[in-house]
Amino acid sequence: MATVPQTIDRARLRELTELERGKLLARTEGSQAYYERAIAVMPRGVPSSFQTADPRPIYISHGEGARVWDVDGNEYLDFHNGFGVMCVGHAHPAIVKAVSERAARGSHFAAPTEGSLTVAEELKRRFGMPQWRFTNSGTESTMDAIHLARAATGRDLVLKIEGSYHGHHDAVMVSVRPPLDQLGERGVPGSIPFGAGHPHQVSELTKAIPFNDADVLERVLDDIGDRVAALILEPAMMNITIVAPRPGYLERIRELTAQHGVTLVFDEVKTGMTIAAGGAVERFGVTPDIVCLAKAIAGGYPSGAVGMTEPLADLITTGKVRQVGTFNGNPLSMAAAQAALTEVLTADAYAHLDDLDTKLRAGLDDVIARYGLPCHTVGLGSKGCVVFSSEPLYEYRDYATKVDEELSTLSWLYHMNHGIFMTPGVDEQWTLSVAHDDDELQRYVDAFEAFARDVTS
Ligand SMILES: Cc1ncc(COP(=O)(O)O)c(C=O)c1O
Repeated sequence: MATVPQTIDRARLRELTELERGKLLARTEGSQAYYERAIAVMPRGVPSSFQTADPRPIYISHGEGARVWDVDGNEYLDFHNGFGVMCVGHAHPAIVKAVSERAARGSHFAAPTEGSLTVAEELKRRFGMPQWRFTNSGTESTMDAIHLARAATGRDLVLKIEGSYHGHHDAVMVSVRPPLDQLGERGVPGSIPFGAGHPHQVSELTKAIPFNDADVLERVLDDIGDRVAALILEPAMMNITIVAPRPGYLERIRELTAQHGVTLVFDEVKTGMTIAAGGAVERFGVTPDIVCLAKAIAGGYPSGAVGMTEPLADLITTGKVRQVGTFNGNPLSMAAAQAALTEVLTADAYAHLDDLDTKLRAGLDDVIARYGLPCHTVGLGSKGCVVFSSEPLYEYRDYATKVDEELSTLSWLYHMNHGIFMTPGVDEQWTLSVAHDDDELQRYVDAFEAFARDVTS
């Protein structure tokens, strides 16, 4: 078959999209009933706006290993995996056992239990950061990181990356999805609030610059570096598909932030436990001042963590920074984290995830080449995606101008209707779990091929 890039027939693409939307709605009537009940008590019928999906949310009943079932009884292979939380797979016996045993002995004391010590020791081993504190979410982890950076430097400004999401506290709800017509000149730091309810004066303290461009950072730091407390970034961006760092970028921003006394914060909420045992710190070999974790660290239970240098930890020790929270280090979450990190996500598990990534992308690359689809694959460990752009992405402005949303949406519908539970939204990626094997990867590739065949025929 030819490998020349296809021109996509837009009318046919829209026709297929309507057809597949109709199919999805028809096979999930139970979800429709839940939805009607849910919208009476929850805005958009979901506990978090990130759980919405178009045409409507799918309500899940249960999961086991690599599979989930919706409330209609439809079985799916799970490649969504709870936005990257479940790379341990669902209901892993080691985690069920650890949590059940802990629950039977009491689930919360607001006093430390041994689990938090063991998990902190394991995180230190993986990331090389000497000191750790726990939180309940990624939002809390990045919020605490910014408190630490501001306290350490006595400065108020925060630099972030255009198009990055770091949770929903005021300091980072800035320039997350800036509309193209408001972006302004590239390289000039911008502060575009993401959603309402964030004081204008607070949003203005956060400025966004492009990813993968250390020259811009150098210029900005030469200009305002003495007022900047922190640069917070995802070392590989994972909320605009996946955008990997260019070789040398992370090393250079490490040097520049150190020169200007700016705290470097790696938001590893997504990359943390998924792309290597020690996340991006290990994979790219660059150590920041603070590492923020959440999502996959507690094997499906809510927890976050903040790793920091000794001088930053002293700010908490001396009481200058109030790092607190009733549920921090909750025994159930710590029991799950301990089992996930020491029994499930072993060195062998990371080798398996890398192997799965290579195989899955090889299968998809083959389909892309045979049908001449204008897209490519990106993958890092358990995280990967098809990017619906024939050109690589280096930063948000590429994502906002080059990604074909219609094709991306249709491929999602094909996956859902072929029994693959996949993350909704153009910006997301799959998460592979230790429970996936070659047969499951083949099913993903087969669904993708059905989409490729229909959309190019
Ligand atoms: C990179 C990144 N940082 C922070 C967060 C916020 O984490 P949480 O939803 O646990 O508050 C997310 C959530 O998707 C994220 O992707």
